[in-house]
Amino acid sequence: MGIEQLVAVTRRLPRACEDRLAAHYQVRWGDDDVDYTPEVIGRFAENATAILVTPSERMDAAAIGALPGAVRVIASNSVGFEHIDLAAARSRGMRVTHTPGVLTDATADLALLLILAATRRAGEGERMVRDDRWQGIRPTAFLGSQITGKRLGIVGMGRIGAAVARRAQAFGMSVLYHNRTALAAADAGGATYVPTLQGLLSQADVLSLHCPLTEATQGMLNAEAIAALPKDAVVVNTARGGLVDDEALIAALRSGRLAAAGLDVYANEPRIDPRYRDLENIVLLPHIGSATLETRTAMGMLAIDNIAAVLSGQEPPNAVV
Ligand code: 8YV
Repeated sequence: MGIEQLVAVTRRLPRACEDRLAAHYQVRWGDDDVDYTPEVIGRFAENATAILVTPSERMDAAAIGALPGAVRVIASNSVGFEHIDLAAARSRGMRVTHTPGVLTDATADLALLLILAATRRAGEGERMVRDDRWQGIRPTAFLGSQITGKRLGIVGMGRIGAAVARRAQAFGMSVLYHNRTALAAADAGGATYVPTLQGLLSQADVLSLHCPLTEATQGMLNAEAIAALPKDAVVVNTARGGLVDDEALIAALRSGRLAAAGLDVYANEPRIDPRYRDLENIVLLPHIGSATLETRTAMGMLAIDNIAAVLSGQEPPNAVV
């Protein structure tokens, strides 16, 4: 592999990934605090033949247009790729790759964590203990809702959605899902397909979003969708913030129409809608779905596999373009 080749890496990676890159390529390491505007990313990728980005880098037409012509692959350290303008990359003959599969378990675990934390009011309890406001055991204090026996509605039954379904079934939940197409019974793992989103919403005691952010899914959880959910339902989002209409969700949490929510992703991360911070009945996490050492290392290694393939003239294992 080509030590003469320069790979530009926008954010620091787990040590094992950095060591592997440095052993095989010249590497330009980015800084975690940089805001990669098109001008900045163009300069940063000077003389590079590959660039490794994250969803924090908005690889739109302007950014891709600013990349030097020598760049042959934009490798994203993510399963999601809505931050990359695929048409712009295609028009410049640049491959685009992502890192599916290796983050499924970590992200599904975090979805269950948010389902449990939101239904059991863990955030409120944790804040009360931290603020030294706890008065001791009270039989009617902090009553949450049980998930055993409840119905989990999954929107988007891909790898992560199916992994959440398996975990939820282990907690005694019945699982329904809405997806573009019904899965084969063997893949659905006993989850029930609901052909319409409205149909799924009306039966979901807990709703968990696992679909990609596209023009069709942008703002899908809006006031009308929330109105279709059962009273006191709980909503969890570990997919993309743009799937949720913040105005509608905030109003439903304030009014008590929804009992609670758990969010790991937001529109305009990290500048989330400040009104979320004032709500008690919400758990707010900083996009840590895949944040385990094992998973982030596996993601980095997969991104490097994709880069190595393209730079040695082979087909990358996880091509998007
Ligand atoms: C981020 C994610 O990529 O994979 C995705 O689509 O959103 C996350 O896994 C990760 O946080 C970047 O380091």
